[in-house]
Order: sequence, then C-alpha cells, then structure tokens
Amino acid sequence: MTRPSPVSVEAVIRRRVEREGWISFRAFMELALYHPTDGYYTRPEMVTGRRGDFSTSPDVAPAFGRRLAVQAAEIHQRLGGGSWRLVELGPGRGLLAADLLDGLACHAPESLAALEKMVLVEISPALRRVQHERLASWARRVPLVWSESLVDVPAAEGVVVANEFFDALPVHLVERRDGVVREVGVVASSSGELELAPGPEADEIVAELVETHALAPRDGDRAEVCAGLAEIFEHLSRILPRGGAVIVDYGLPAAILGDRAHREGTAVGYHRHRVVTDLLARPGRQDLTAHVNWDHLEAAAREAGFTVVGRTWQDRFLMALGLIEDLAAPGDGDEDPSATAERLAARALILPGGGGKRFEVVGLVRGLEGPWRGWSMG
Ligand SMILES: C[S@@+](CC[C@H](N)C(=O)[O-])C[C@H]1O[C@@H](n2cnc3c(N)ncnc32)[C@H](O)[C@@H]1O
Repeated sequence: MTRPSPVSVEAVIRRRVEREGWISFRAFMELALYHPTDGYYTRPEMVTGRRGDFSTSPDVAPAFGRRLAVQAAEIHQRLGGGSWRLVELGPGRGLLAADLLDGLACHAPESLAALEKMVLVEISPALRRVQHERLASWARRVPLVWSESLVDVPAAEGVVVANEFFDALPVHLVERRDGVVREVGVVASSSGELELAPGPEADEIVAELVETHALAPRDGDRAEVCAGLAEIFEHLSRILPRGGAVIVDYGLPAAILGDRAHREGTAVGYHRHRVVTDLLARPGRQDLTAHVNWDHLEAAAREAGFTVVGRTWQDRFLMALGLIEDLAAPGDGDEDPSATAERLAARALILPGGGGKRFEVVGLVRGLEGPWRGWSMG
C-alpha cells in the first residue's frame, strides 16, 4: 500500500506565489511535475497507459521498443561490435527498457551479449522503484544501473534513447508585448485562484532563443522555450564520446511554432486522456507538456558536437526497421491470444491517427558514419 505524501505540491506552489508575488511558468512546471515527493511524476501513484492520463508508444505495443532495438544494434555494430552501453533517458514505467532488451534478445543477440550495462536516467524515485520491479528478471542477465540525473553518468561508447523525455522538460512561457518578450508566470488573484500573468522581460538566454527561432513573432503571441536543452546536450556529449542517440517525441519546426495557428503556444495539460488547456488546473495531478522545437533541439545537439543523421516520422522509422514483419499473423494460424493482441496493437504505432504521424524520430551521432537504417525511408 502506498502512503499519501504529507506535502501537497499545490500548497508548496501557493506558498511560493504568496511569498514572491509572481513565479515563472518554468518554476511552476518544475514543481508541478518534479517536486521531490508530490510532483506529477514523483508521487507514488503515477501511472501511464489506460489507467493514467496519457499513453506513450511503449504503452501501446512492445513492437516499438523491440524495433528500436534493431537501430540500437546497428549503431553497436558500427561501433565495432565490442562492449557497449545503452542509456535510456526518462524510462517512465520501464516498458521501453524491457522491450529494448527483449528486442536485442530477439533481433540482435550478439549485441545483447556485448552489452556491458544499461543505465536508466530517472529523476523520480517512485518511477525508479516501478522500473526496478519491471526489470527484475532482466537484472539477472544484464547489469542495470540507475542514475537520478545525467550529471552522474560516466562516459562510455554506446547508444542513448529517449522517448517522450524532451516534451516533459520544464519550459519558459513567453509572450511578446509592444515588441518586448516577457516571461509569463503564475500569480494569485484576489480570490486566491492561480492565474497566468506576464512578468519581467525574458532574460538574455531566453530572449536570444526566441529571436533565433523567430518564436512569438506578433504582439500578443505566446511560445515556450526549453532553456535547459543546452545543458542536457552538454551532458550527453560528455557521456557519449562515440555512438548514437535516438530521440522520439512530438515536436514542430520553429517556423511552424511561430505561425498564426500556434500563437497561443503548444503547452497543454493531460488528465484522463483529455487535453486540458488550463495549465494551472490541479497542480501535480495533471501532466504538463510542450511540443519540442526541433530546430532548437537539433541546434543544441550540433553545438554539443553531434551530427544530425535525420528526422523522420515514427511510422517510417519503425517500418524501415522491420515493423511490417510484426504485423503479419503466423501462417499456421497458431498464435496465443496475447501475441495476437500485441500484433494488433502494433498497427497503432504506424497508423496516422495513432503514433505514426504524431511522433518524429531524430538520430544523432558522434564519431560514426551513416547511412542508418531507421532513417532510410526518408
Ligand atoms: C512522459 S514520461 C516518458 C516515459 C517513457 N519514456 C515512455 O515512453 O513511456 C517522461 C519521463 O522522463 C522523466 N524525467 C523528466 N525529466 C527528467 C530529468 N531531468 N532527468 C531524468 N528523468 C526525467 C520522468 O520522470 C518520466 O519518467
């Protein structure tokens, strides 16, 4: 049985807003999602999938991680096929980690045999516990190591994967007013309701990112800026001196983020599989997310020494890695019901209304040459 947290993140946020008058949206999002004991991702009851607020591709079907393993194995082979390390950023419930290892066992046993260790980088103690449980049987076959942050991960050749990690990073919310880019933050109204309100001018780093990517170009436009990207890629380049990274997420190019259709920005909440436009509703009890700015992410990666292999839709990536084979029923008609369910679920990974044209996959490499199978369909 899980014990309720003695601290309410909403109370923590309210106290801070009362004390400081205004807090940035980034500070709000950081607390709402990652408060040490009562944030959305850190409280013990956190679940994804049907019983939670949103489903990720690993929740949908194991074929996602198993086919991603084929790409990881190709990178391992290009590294020379020797000892290598697999790192996952933000493993959630640990489904993708388990599917990656299953995929290596099934499609690339020589890469599994050479795997020195898998590192799971997870900020949430509650999710680290869930991951430990889910991966218990794998822990007897492969050294599994947990790290709270990228800061503590040592350097090694290998592969980094991240599914829906970057959309969950706290973002600055900005608004252009009379030509000036201002931060948008959180205040308390006279009746005590939390409200969004413009604050000071954006600092130099945020303002420069807004101008570089032509975000919020018209007066009144809002946009999100993930100022933490540079630091994350600095760490990634340190921990990955040679190898590749596979990043899957929903995002948009900067030019589209700056168009009229996105003038309110892309940040939303998720609660019980519904999009919530009130970002301040139920702090710590709804997910908060913003589309990844692909131009910003790719620029941060290049700045840190990575080469961008390509960006492609999830359906093309998975099909290039052989997903079609997973959709075919066995010729003899002899299939157990759970295999049938997994096979049917795998279709949702590539259907446009499913994840196929919702998620994109960015490939990054350092010290290696392509071409790469996952991006071979364009
Ligand atoms: C949207 S969930 C994605 C879960 C999983 N990758 C999946 O596909 O089901 C985001 C994950 O990233 C973790 N996370 C967010 N920020 C992090 C950080 N700075 N360091 C480590 N983990 C982080 C969250 O706790 C959570 O596990």
